[in-house]
Amino acid sequence: TLAEKSGYDHFMEKEINEQPQSIKSALSGRIKNNVPNLVELENIKNFIKNDLKKIYIVACGTSYHAGLSMVYLLNAYSDLDINIEVASEFRYMNPHVDKNTLVIAVSQSGETIDTLEGIRIAKEKGAHILSMSNVVGSTIPRESNSVVYMNTGPEIGVAATKTYTAQIAILYLISAQILFYREQYSTEIKNIVSKLEKIDEIFEEVLTTKEHIKEISRQYVNYKNMMYVGRGFGYTAALEGALKLKEISYINATAYQAGELKHGPIALLDEAFPVFAIIPFNGLKEKMISNIMEIKARKARVIALTSSEDERIKEIVDDYILVPNIEEALLPLAVAPITQLFSYNISILRHLDPDKPRNLAKSVTVE
Ligand code: G6P
Repeated sequence: TLAEKSGYDHFMEKEINEQPQSIKSALSGRIKNNVPNLVELENIKNFIKNDLKKIYIVACGTSYHAGLSMVYLLNAYSDLDINIEVASEFRYMNPHVDKNTLVIAVSQSGETIDTLEGIRIAKEKGAHILSMSNVVGSTIPRESNSVVYMNTGPEIGVAATKTYTAQIAILYLISAQILFYREQYSTEIKNIVSKLEKIDEIFEEVLTTKEHIKEISRQYVNYKNMMYVGRGFGYTAALEGALKLKEISYINATAYQAGELKHGPIALLDEAFPVFAIIPFNGLKEKMISNIMEIKARKARVIALTSSEDERIKEIVDDYILVPNIEEALLPLAVAPITQLFSYNISILRHLDPDKPRNLAKSVTVE
């Protein structure tokens, strides 16, 4: 009904727009004086401090993309051995986990069968299972040793939006908590945690570009294909952007690490194949600009998303979206509402129902 949608046309639109509030509620009480305060991890403090040798993230779909951001974070800011695999592969690959491994199962619904079977196998091998879900009492949390709930309120739209951003935020807090217990809490991590605490303000700011995104979206309604490119944290954002577009607009969208373009995907590009480029904030920005020049040489239309006014970028691309200047690690968070709105607009303009995409279910309890 209209009331449940709070005046929005669709649940997805409502859930995109409520991210400043949902992220606040996900983080509420979980940061104290720039230090994570995840009481859910207290019972494994000694394990984390003394026995932890490897972390393995297991997830599907959007939850996998959130997990990948955590991999980039821990690789950048720790010396921990961190791995990730989609659950449907993990469960059949003889995963190398043991009693010194923390397996983190990320599942919004807590019911995804592949993820559940994945943790069952890991548990048999002696790993410690930490799960993260939005549904209290769901199966995956019940079979885990530790649970962190996302606290974002229920998500109705099939395409994950507010739960994706909450997942990233909480996975970053889990990372920070692990580093804190291991006495490796650097000023860089502390800084990320303090910025994370105010991420709701970034969402507010990003959401003010709504009308601009709508205008841009109109230019992309009739394409059959689209490519998302990024590097590092921006690559994880590209993966999720492409998935969102596939799910609700049925445009064939794929994501690549921008550096991989020259190894194959660039052969696809022409005026009928636009590119959504997520430009890194750090030293890789220049490399990305040359990637974009190569793309433009193939006459593909380009949307560039960047955090700094840059005339060079503005000159070469067709559409230009500015996001607030934040830490590179927070890029997937700042980008999410934009790629979500972009996909939502295209879905509407194609007269589709973004809340109920064909062939997809909110939670997949069959193999
Ligand atoms: C389904 C949903 C996706 C979701 C995936 C994993 O395919 O349509 O949106 O990302 O399952 O779900 P989970 O509940 O385990 O996060």
